[in-house]
Amino acid sequence: MQKILITGHSGFVGSWLSLYLSSKKYKIYGVSLKNHHNNHIFYKANVNKICNNHIVDISNYNKLENVFKKVKPDYVIHLAAQPLVINSYLDPINTFKTNIIGTLNVLELANLYSSGKLINFTSDKVYKKNEKKSLKENDYLGGYDPYSLSKSCSDLIGQCLNVNKLKNNSRLKITTLRCGNLIGGGDWCENRIIPDYFRSYINKKTLIIRNPKSIRPWQHVINSINIIKQIMSLEHKNVYDTFNIGPNNSKISVNKILNKLNNFNNNLVKIKIKKLSSYQETKNLKLNNLKSKKIFKTKSKSINFDLKLTNDWYVNSFNKKNMYDFTLKQIEDYI
Ligand SMILES: NC(=O)c1ccc[n+]([C@@H]2O[C@H](COP(=O)([O-])OP(=O)(O)OC[C@H]3O[C@@H](n4cnc5c(N)ncnc54)[C@H](O)[C@@H]3O)[C@@H](O)[C@H]2O)c1
Repeated sequence: MQKILITGHSGFVGSWLSLYLSSKKYKIYGVSLKNHHNNHIFYKANVNKICNNHIVDISNYNKLENVFKKVKPDYVIHLAAQPLVINSYLDPINTFKTNIIGTLNVLELANLYSSGKLINFTSDKVYKKNEKKSLKENDYLGGYDPYSLSKSCSDLIGQCLNVNKLKNNSRLKITTLRCGNLIGGGDWCENRIIPDYFRSYINKKTLIIRNPKSIRPWQHVINSINIIKQIMSLEHKNVYDTFNIGPNNSKISVNKILNKLNNFNNNLVKIKIKKLSSYQETKNLKLNNLKSKKIFKTKSKSINFDLKLTNDWYVNSFNKKNMYDFTLKQIEDYI
């Protein structure tokens, strides 16, 4: 059985990925900080029980080295990050430390103690701001806010240490994935539109939104975990490259997302628009997905389909104790 080390396995993307890969008979070792949210998919779908959990800060080299030495993984998937724009303005030092030093530590230790095959999960926000075009992999990097910039750095570090560039000095075979905004059940991060909607839903409180007109490349998290699984099975050198992962239609606004979601729930949630913060965020972000579509079999569905799955997950999770089978069924049906 192959041993997969996933950093950030207790988070939203990490939980979906860990569950899926463990159902495909991979042995999952996770490195994360403690997850404190009881309704999170990590607990609701028993991800905490199916993984070997290591509560370790990735910016602590020595503690992380102990895990790598013990596990000696066949594959490393690096997701752990401080992933929120507003939090990055509030605490840039922690954001840079986790997302840059943490990435360096993970890559160095993967080079020393793993097979060298690694997926670095960065973001669509790594690009230098350009709201007019659909961003391609060879466009300039340079994120605007501390989170985006830290992910640009993580992305460039991965490209720099990749075997394709450093030849004999690196064993690392790195695939960099720049994903658009991911949706799906069980995410409870602050200041993300879907978790915010469901916080208002259960607390029966008005949802205040900041930027209703912002356009993002929304897609279901299952699309990205399906691509990760394909990368792990493809041994070809073309895979150790950089790819945008995004939907075919990137023109959906926050407003549209919320209206569609609220339609499923008989407009239960009251929504108010209020300019709350002065934090700068990109208004239009469009990703060009043609390069990844040439190599991977993507399973993108319509935004209505993705939102329906997401809504079903949350609404069921409020009544059901165990969402393990439900989540796996959503994944299998989708793929
Ligand atoms: N969710 C999205 O829409 C999206 C889109 C593009 C890229 N990403 C990227 O995907 C990755 C996962 O994001 P997510 O949405 O699951 O976020 P999340 O907040 O749900 O999960 C983050 C994970 O990282 C771990 N972590 C944070 N700081 C750590 C540290 N110092 N040491 C060890 N572990 C630490 C957390 O414990 C958690 O397991 C991030 O790299 C993020 O930048 C997310």
